[in-house]
Amino acid sequence: MARKLFIAGNWKMNLSASQCTALAGEIAAKIPADSGVEVALCPPFVYLAAVRQVLQGSAIATGAQDAYWESKGAFTGQISPAMLLDVGCEYVIIGHSERRHTIIPCEDDRVINRKVLAALAAGLKVILCIGETLNQRSQGHTQSVLNEQLTAGLAKLNPGLAEKLVIAYEPVWAIGTGQTATTEQAQQAQAFVRARLGQLLGAAAAETIRIQYGGSVKPANAADLLVQPDVDGALVGGASLKADDFLEIIRAGEQIASLASTTPA
Ligand code: PGA
Repeated sequence: MARKLFIAGNWKMNLSASQCTALAGEIAAKIPADSGVEVALCPPFVYLAAVRQVLQGSAIATGAQDAYWESKGAFTGQISPAMLLDVGCEYVIIGHSERRHTIIPCEDDRVINRKVLAALAAGLKVILCIGETLNQRSQGHTQSVLNEQLTAGLAKLNPGLAEKLVIAYEPVWAIGTGQTATTEQAQQAQAFVRARLGQLLGAAAAETIRIQYGGSVKPANAADLLVQPDVDGALVGGASLKADDFLEIIRAGEQIASLASTTPA
């Protein structure tokens, strides 16, 4: 079974309420219900409900950028998976490199694993981000880092929940830098991730789990990346803040999907 390309926009800590709803409306208006590509928008927590309302009736899903692992209680400032579901969220991004490396306190694989398990158990779909730093790549540690992040991040996962899992391979050195991984680097890393998913969750699960690429995806490089056999979509930061750029990336995905559906296996 072919994996449906999945393109998600991670708006990070950007935009105002009115900018979020305007951008969501502009994107929703241009994506047909029968698009060959699945699309999700991930605004800041405080704008999720408003964006969900704009997207009502469209084919676009809403995602959050993080979630805590407890379902409720005295956890000042945290947001639970149940709350995200309550405002119509379908997806949550967990373990983004900015949460691993930039935002203090930085998250480690144990924290990320608790969040992954809790979000999936609550019924959310999870986009688990993994990726190596430039230093780790230049020392030849890319595969061991990916292996460690996957193994620890997915520890104790019930393989039956694998269908709700998406992996985003995001080399840290490519995020927000304008420096994209080459198509060979992305494909090579993502083939490794799929092989490792096979060992962790079984071959059937590994075949169905979508692996997005993230890190300076833009209209100019989207098609070359999305056509790679183990690149099943993109997690887009900067370019998702501009409707035209994001729509162009989605169109690149739609073209690849329609070619794949007309090419005999
Ligand atoms: P970028 O961000 O597209 O701006 O590099 C990607 C991400 O952080 O998910």
